[in-house]
Amino acid sequence: MTGPEGAPPHLVVHPDKERMARATAARLVTAVVDAQTARGGAHVALTGGRNGNALLAALAGAPGRDAVDWSRVDLWWGDERFLPDGDPDRNHTQAREAFLDAVPLDPARVHPMPASDGPHGDDVDAAAEAYAAELAAAAGRGGGTGGGPLPFDVLLLGLGPDTHVASLFPGHPAVREDRRAVVGVREAPKPPPTRISLTLPAVRAAREVWLLAAGGDKAEAAAGALAADDPLRTPAAGARGRERTLWILDEAAAALLPDSARG
Ligand code: 6PG
Repeated sequence: MTGPEGAPPHLVVHPDKERMARATAARLVTAVVDAQTARGGAHVALTGGRNGNALLAALAGAPGRDAVDWSRVDLWWGDERFLPDGDPDRNHTQAREAFLDAVPLDPARVHPMPASDGPHGDDVDAAAEAYAAELAAAAGRGGGTGGGPLPFDVLLLGLGPDTHVASLFPGHPAVREDRRAVVGVREAPKPPPTRISLTLPAVRAAREVWLLAAGGDKAEAAAGALAADDPLRTPAAGARGRERTLWILDEAAAALLPDSARG
């Protein structure tokens, strides 16, 4: 795999995680309104994790929230824990609690990744293939790509302390995937061990990739990933959008960044 393609990261640093979540929620409202103005709809890929859920909670309470026509937003997930539907550890469950029920989404446009008690049972590979097919259908239907991978308008990612993004962990087979858009992940170092994840090619099809990291426990990962160029060892280094890549941090997560990185 050659070095990361796509737009180099642009850093945005907020004083603390609360203001980071509120500012990013406002940024997302604007991005979705712009996408709907330009293309009639918006495709947003959500992330699990504390920062992803904090953003969704801030979005639920954002003053400008209703500037978005939520009935024309397609929500996807960058990854999911492969657990039974409704399990409290599923990203979809946590997103529902934080946000999904707060706005008038079209249920047909909310695309959770399959659960382990769904039509594919515990076959995580079949579940991943089904999600890839759903993405491909959306891309063909109106994603504006002529059959390529779906170009999410915004793809959100959290940053793991080991520099993982979605469920793409350093040195894990899923990081090497350069053909399929969605894969099953087994023996993930972050519990639960079985997951479904977009691959780096699917991430890189996004127009914009926004990576969220708050807290001192992410400072080393943020500095390391921004300096790295080998996605196999540092998956976050490969998470770049075609048009823009934002690294949205709080001061604690940015603490080890060189001044040069802060523009
Ligand atoms: C997951 C997430 C994962 C998460 C990072 C950061 O399913 O666990 O998608 O990629 O975003 O591990 O998590 P925190 O924001 O909680 O540190």
